[in-house]
This record gives sequence, C-alpha cells and structure tokens, in this order.
Amino acid sequence: MGRRSRHPQAEGRRVKDKRQETRLVEAGRRAEWTQGLVNPAVWRASTILFDKVADLDAANPPKDGILHYGRNGTPTTWALCEALTEMEPGAAMTRLYPSGAAACAGALLAVLAAGDELLMVDTAYGPTRALCDGVLKRFGVTTIYYDPMIGAGIHALIGEKTRAVFLESPGTHTFEVQDMPAICAAAKARGLITLIDNTWATPLFFPAIAAGIDLSILACTKYIGGHADLMLGSVTATAAVAPRLEQTRRVMGQTGAPDDAWLALRGLRTLDLRLKRHQENGLKVAHWLKAQPQVARVLHPAFPDCPGHEYWVRDYKGATGLFSIVLAGGDEGARDRLVDSLQLFGIGYSWGGYESLALPADPVRTATRPAFEGPLIRFHIGLENPDDLIEDLAAAFAGYGGSG
Ligand SMILES: Cc1ncc(COP(=O)(O)O)c(C=O)c1O
Repeated sequence: MGRRSRHPQAEGRRVKDKRQETRLVEAGRRAEWTQGLVNPAVWRASTILFDKVADLDAANPPKDGILHYGRNGTPTTWALCEALTEMEPGAAMTRLYPSGAAACAGALLAVLAAGDELLMVDTAYGPTRALCDGVLKRFGVTTIYYDPMIGAGIHALIGEKTRAVFLESPGTHTFEVQDMPAICAAAKARGLITLIDNTWATPLFFPAIAAGIDLSILACTKYIGGHADLMLGSVTATAAVAPRLEQTRRVMGQTGAPDDAWLALRGLRTLDLRLKRHQENGLKVAHWLKAQPQVARVLHPAFPDCPGHEYWVRDYKGATGLFSIVLAGGDEGARDRLVDSLQLFGIGYSWGGYESLALPADPVRTATRPAFEGPLIRFHIGLENPDDLIEDLAAAFAGYGGSG
C-alpha cells in the first residue's frame, strides 16, 4: 500500500555500490527468496513440481531464481551465491561445491583440456597438488610448479600449451604472499586464465576478481561458515569464464547442500567482525611467539620478514588468524609433544572456526626448497581471549626440550 519494501533486493535497490559491511548484511536478501523473513528458509529439494509440461520446458535451461531441479539450486543456495558474488566487485556469478577441495577441482576442470599445461604455485594446498599429480595428469594435463615469489618472472614459464595459472596466496603452511598484479598481468598478456585459492583472505581482505583474477575459489568450510560445522566450497567467476564454469559444474553434478549453504550464509553476515578479531588475536599471539627463544621464525604475512610482506601491505586489507611458526631446532617428535601438551588448542584439520587449533605442518615442495631451522607448527587463532592462549602456549613452551 505504497509502503516502501524493507527487503534489500526489492524494488530494484542494489547493494553493489554500498560499503563492504553494508553489503555483507544486505547481499542476497531478495524478497522472493526470504518471503518476508530476515533469512531465507532451508529449501531442500530434488524434484520440483510443474503444473504442465510447458512450464517444465520454460524452466530450461536452468537459471538462478527459477526452480528447475534440486541440483541447480533453491532460494537458499541462490541467496548465498548472490551474496558471495556481491562481495567480489567485478564478478558475474558464484557456484557452490560440496567442499573447498571440490571447488578447486571444479574450477580447474572447467578451464583445462587434454594437452594443456597448468602453472601451479608450489605452496598449493596438498589435495590441490594431488589433483594435479593424479587426476589432471591422467587426463593429459601437465602441471608445472612455480616458486610463489616468481612475480613477473612467470612469463618465462609460459609456453604454447600453457592454459592457466593457479595462485594460492598466502601459501599453505609457509604463508608467502604472491605478487598477484604482476602474475595476472603476465598471464593476461598471453591470454591465460588465472585462478586463486582465496580461502585465507576471503573477498573481505582480498577482493580477487577486482585484482584481475578470473576465478576466485573459497573453502567456505573455513571463515565463511566460521563455526567448524559445515563443508562447502564456492567459485566466483568473471562474465567471460562464468559459462564454462557453470557448464562443467552442471555435467559433473556438483552442487552445494542447502543446509550447509544456509549455515554459510548466516556465517557470512558476521564475517567482517570475526575476521577483524581473528586478525587482532592472531597478531597478539604471533608477536608473543616471535619473542620466544624456542621459536626461530613466525611465518605470518603481516611480519616484515615474511616473503612477499610488501605485497600483503600493498594488496590486502588485513590478515586473518592462520599462520605458522618455525621452531629453533628440535625434531618432529618433540614438536608433536609440544602440540600435544597444549590445552586450549584443538588438534585437527581445517581452520577458520571460532576455536583455536594447532597442527604439525610439513610443507611439500618440488619447485623450491626453503630451509627451515626446525619443524613447523601451524596455528589457527580463534576468538578466545588471546591472553589465555598465550598462557597455554607459555606452559607448553616451558616443558619444551627441543630434540629427544
Ligand atoms: C587453502 C585451502 N584450500 C582449500 C581447502 C579445502 O577445503 P575443504 O576442507 O572444504 O575441502 C583447505 C582445507 O583445509 C585449505 O586450507
């Protein structure tokens, strides 16, 4: 009755140009998907019922916003996809996958074909490497691993068969920050597609598409969900690459479960607050660790001695709560006992939840072999009071004998 709709996406109101915090609150909240609630319901579906065959025909080909078949989404998953797209200025589309690993695979399979060469960062997440060395190799794709610090020098690795460059910044376990503008410029000059695993920074701390990346991959399992209770991945694409991504996703049967998408969407609304606290707590604990005689180095993008720190300063809006330390000598057995003796840190895979974790880290490298003074531990610093975490670490370090 003339009353203005309170639904952010009604009446053509757009949130694209709003500030980041506002976009996080408003993105994806279309009236037709939320039905008057603040959040969309969990729409679970396989079959969608149509009144007539003509209606079923009209739903083809599948499009976001038109119910077709469960695998092609429901309002719950469309809302999350639209929200993730809104967080990446310049992006055209987001697609969901059942995990972050599936998202990495789905993105790579969308852009590669037999006979292609892929340039893969040497610090890639382990299962991404395994995908290259196993499945992609079996299907005729050759992977060339490159030094994360290669920068513009990547042009020397680009040959006739090179199709794509995969970045992960900062690197898994060792946190080197890549010179992404230089790598993207070299890739663009040769018509290559660029992909990034942007899980550490999220689009809040590094909007990858605006920086020239074609496909930005997130393990939503981590910070987007934020509560260690879901498995989900996403790929956000430019308009040029979106059709290939969607076509490959569809024929490979990839989809995101509505329950997990709902949790991820709820997590997304508080991402800004959580990331800032993870950053603050992480830095406090990392600085304490750096001062300990048992610690040779802290591998953290915000520390000046981190390789690529200058690129982090230039390109990133913040640091999240994941980093590693290098112990000053000692063997793996002593390192593992140190981790075992922590009380407030969980021992387990993944990260990005509200809780702190510690994990023995053993980097796998083939293109570059950095020398470390001792074994590595990767920490995820959660939302606890950092002084409690530091007390826990102090007690563990007091009992740390190094080797033996
Ligand atoms: C950087 C990075 N990318 C991708 C993944 C894979 O995500 P998921 O566990 O959801 O498969 C992980 C998981 O630890 C990760 O650390």
